[in-house]
Amino acid sequence: MLAAIGSAVGLGNLWRFPYIAFKNGGGAFLVPYFVALLTTGIPLLMAEYAFGARSKTGAPHAMRKISPKVEWVGWWAILTGFVILTYYMAVMAWSWFYMIKSPSIPWAEDAKGYFFNSVLQISDGPMQIGGIIWPLALATLATWIICYLITRWGTKSVGAVVKWTVPLPYILLVILLVHGLRQMGSIEGLIYYLTPTWDVLTNPQVWMAAYGQVFFSLSLGFGVMIAYASYLKSKEDLPWQATFAGLANSATEFFAGFVVFAVLGALAAVTSVNITEVVAGGPGLAFVAFPMALAALPFAKFFSFVFFLMLLTLGIDSAFSLLEAATTAIQDRYPKFRRGRILFVLCLIGFLIGLLFVTNAGLYWLDIVDHWMNSYGLVGVGLAEALILTFLLGTKKLKSELNAHTIRPVGLIWELSIWFITPIALTVTIILSLKGEFTSAYEGYPPIALAIGGWGIWTLTIVLALLLQKDKMKWAKLLGFLLIIGVVLVAMFVSTALAMGLFGSIVLAGGLLWLLAIDWLKRKKLSPKSATK
Ligand code: TRP
Repeated sequence: MLAAIGSAVGLGNLWRFPYIAFKNGGGAFLVPYFVALLTTGIPLLMAEYAFGARSKTGAPHAMRKISPKVEWVGWWAILTGFVILTYYMAVMAWSWFYMIKSPSIPWAEDAKGYFFNSVLQISDGPMQIGGIIWPLALATLATWIICYLITRWGTKSVGAVVKWTVPLPYILLVILLVHGLRQMGSIEGLIYYLTPTWDVLTNPQVWMAAYGQVFFSLSLGFGVMIAYASYLKSKEDLPWQATFAGLANSATEFFAGFVVFAVLGALAAVTSVNITEVVAGGPGLAFVAFPMALAALPFAKFFSFVFFLMLLTLGIDSAFSLLEAATTAIQDRYPKFRRGRILFVLCLIGFLIGLLFVTNAGLYWLDIVDHWMNSYGLVGVGLAEALILTFLLGTKKLKSELNAHTIRPVGLIWELSIWFITPIALTVTIILSLKGEFTSAYEGYPPIALAIGGWGIWTLTIVLALLLQKDKMKWAKLLGFLLIIGVVLVAMFVSTALAMGLFGSIVLAGGLLWLLAIDWLKRKKLSPKSATK
């Protein structure tokens, strides 16, 4: 359970939640967020626990036990988590940078300028990649090495360390909040954060952001919770643990939101602009707001150091949870490979991919990849899991697994949420938000960047997942379906943008080639058999 909370509570709570909430209208975001948490997040977390506890293996094998046809969903989860991990490391690199610089707090004058110009050295757009920022690259390397060593040798001792570092974030957040509230304007910030707006409920983009955040933050759809639950000794109260982990995790980020919005409110008052315009929202928000709040504290240098060290420790147990899950899954599938070797190769590949996020254009790519991996990756996995549970396994079996050792059994409400609310809500949200993707380019980025970092990487995770599945012929059909769905979607929603037309033709051509390839493979497979007969 501690490991599950360690995986869940991470940068997602302190770095991601505040900017996602800010970008989606502050208080406007909270309603979809809590709806997503209660109707999908926690019920699905219970399901993932039960999947793991029942099958005693990692995500792909757990799926395979249900049906060989859906093993790829487990791989898809792991691959999505792996891509997320590569940019998660970049965020940790920023934390390293701030921690090392905290003896002089060079951001005290201009936190925003410092972050974008000194730390990121940001370029004008995703296509202006520039070069690698070496201090950040070294920091990601250091983090990969630490995660490698921990996953290789020390998950147990880390558990002990983590246990002691758990209260630290809360203490620091309370200090920052109390200090922040004494600044003028901070209350306006909180009002903006806490006032729900009802008309936003009709905006699918906000709903998508809410589901994405819930998945990211609870470590849902990464395959991690399935792997962790597989280590459980029997006689655990699963529904209670999932409820507790889910609520504790969300409470943490909800609280972090208070700090960030208080700071933003104060900043708006000082610069006398509207809070919605006070900083450029986006993945840099927390690294402007927190350093600013820290610099204003007494003993600023000390608190800065402790804060960024804490961010690193919070990030690391999330990071190795995925490495652990991925290594176990690969070992299950290819028993020939040694564990250490698998882990090493994973870390090396991850580090190399992650270099993209520490270039001058790194933040833009991070933003794009994060958007797609959450909205269509994690949430896609979640939808697939709910459907598998409903149509292949049946909710009854998991329900008895969940209720085996609990004093608060789950019942109709849980089942309703798995086979009715979650599939419908996720399908509708995905389709409507896909439509938005085609009618306007995400954050106004050039379509080519979205095609590569968004659709490209997303498609790659699915294709690789299908390739990793043992059962080959079935996945071929599935990918054919997928491509047809892609074509239909493009045809339905295509805008006048040439780029999207191009995207459609690529998918179409790819789909045809794919079908031909399957046909050819099948014939090749059939002919020797008929010859022997
Ligand atoms: N839930 C974590 C958070 O809130 C994120 C996370 C969990 C994660 N597992 C991961 C990120 C694996 C990358 C890789 O921060």
